[in-house]
Amino acid sequence: MAMNYSEAIKDGIVSSALYADDGVFNEEIEKIFTQGWVYVAHETEIPNVGDYVRRNIGLEAFVVVRGKDKKVKVISNRCTHRATLLVHEDKGNLRGSLTCWYHGWVFGFDGKLLNVPYGKGSEGLDHKCLPAATVEIYGGFVFATLNPDAIPFDEYLGNGKKIIDRVLDCSPSGKIRVDTGWVRYETQTNWKLQIENNVDGYHLNYVHASLGRALDVRYKDTVMVSEDKLTTEAIDFLGGHIELTIGAGYTKPLEWLGVKEGREMPADIKEYKDAIEEKHSDEVAHEVIYAGPPHAYIFPNLFIAETNIIFYQMEDRHTNVQLSSPILFEGSSDKLNSRFLRLCEGSLGPSSFLLPDDGAITERQSRGHIGRPMDIDLRRGMDREVVGEDGVITSHITDETSQRAFWNHYKTIMSS
Ligand code: FES
Ligand SMILES: [Fe+2]
Repeated sequence: MAMNYSEAIKDGIVSSALYADDGVFNEEIEKIFTQGWVYVAHETEIPNVGDYVRRNIGLEAFVVVRGKDKKVKVISNRCTHRATLLVHEDKGNLRGSLTCWYHGWVFGFDGKLLNVPYGKGSEGLDHKCLPAATVEIYGGFVFATLNPDAIPFDEYLGNGKKIIDRVLDCSPSGKIRVDTGWVRYETQTNWKLQIENNVDGYHLNYVHASLGRALDVRYKDTVMVSEDKLTTEAIDFLGGHIELTIGAGYTKPLEWLGVKEGREMPADIKEYKDAIEEKHSDEVAHEVIYAGPPHAYIFPNLFIAETNIIFYQMEDRHTNVQLSSPILFEGSSDKLNSRFLRLCEGSLGPSSFLLPDDGAITERQSRGHIGRPMDIDLRRGMDREVVGEDGVITSHITDETSQRAFWNHYKTIMSS
C-alpha cells in the first residue's frame, strides 16, 4: 500500500514505517536522490585531468571525473553495452578514456562512446553514450542531479550557501581541501536515522557520556551541560538544511581547535589567528576565532561536522555508509592541517569516541523500527520555537526542531 505522507508525518510525530518500509525507500531514491540535487564530491579530490572518484547517486553507480576541459563531470559508471561497472576502484586516474573491462568499449570523460571493438558485427546498431548528470559547484562542493527539470540549483541550496560560506571563511585562503581520503563506516541503519542523529543536540550526555568522562573535550561546556545553562541553538534553515550552533557555546578564542585557557597558544595556531584577523572584518574574524566552522546538514546527504565533512551513500533500506574526511585549509601550514587530520581521527576514525557510539545507537534504533508501526515522537520544544521574518526557525539546541526541519522538507518532497 502506498504511503500517505501527510498522515505519516503530522504534528511532530512520524511513523516508524517511514524508516522500515521498502516501498518508502524506493520512493525516496526516486524523489529525493534521482529527481533532486545531491552532494557527490569535493573538487579537490580530483585536481588533475582524468582523476576520478566513484560515487553513487541514490543506488546507481557514477564516476566523478575531471574532464580534458578541466571541468568536473559526473557520468554513469555503467557500461552502455551490458551494464558492467567501468571503474571499480574508489579513486584513481583514467589516463585518457574509460575502457570497459568486459568487451573493451571505450568512452570519453564526457561519456561519449569512442570505440566498439570488432565493429563490423555491430554496424548500424545505435549504441549509446554514457548518461551524464547536471553538475553545479559551490565553494568546491560538487552537487549533481539526474533530473533535467530539477529545481534551480540556487533554489535547492538556499541557506546552505551561508553554511558553506562560513566553512570557507575559516580558511585564510578562502579555500579548503578535502583530499586526504575517506573513512568508510557501514551500519545497519536507515539513512534518515544518521541524519537525525547528526543534528540531535539532545543525546550527547547519554550516547557520548564516556567521551566526556575520558577526555577534556570542548563539548563539555557547550552541549554537555544542564538544560538551563545551554546557550546553543537548533536552527531550521528551511529547504531541509539544519544547524546546531555548537560553536556559539565556546567562550575562548580557538577553543574549537583545542586551545585551552591558561596555556600558551601554539605558534601555528597563533599564525592562523593572525591570518584570519588580517583577512576578515572584526565581526567575521570574531565569528571564525570563537565559533569555528559550523555543525550543519545540507539536504539530503551532506553534513559539515565542524572541521570534518561527512556524506552518505546507502546500499539499501537498512544499510548506510557514512564517509568522513577532515577539512584542510588550502595554503595553511602542514602543522595546522595535521591538527584537523588528528581531530578527524579522534572523533570519526575507526576506534574513535564519537562515530562508533553514534553508529551503535542508530543500529539499535533501526532494529526497534521492525514490527508494528509505532509513533516516533519528535515534539520536544515545539512551543518554544522562534520563527524569524525569513521563516528560519530557532530553538533550544536539545529541541527536536532539527528533526522536524528534516521531516517537514521531506514531507514536501515525498508528497509531490
Ligand atoms: S559490458 Fe562493457 S563492453 Fe560489454
Ligand atoms: Fe552523536
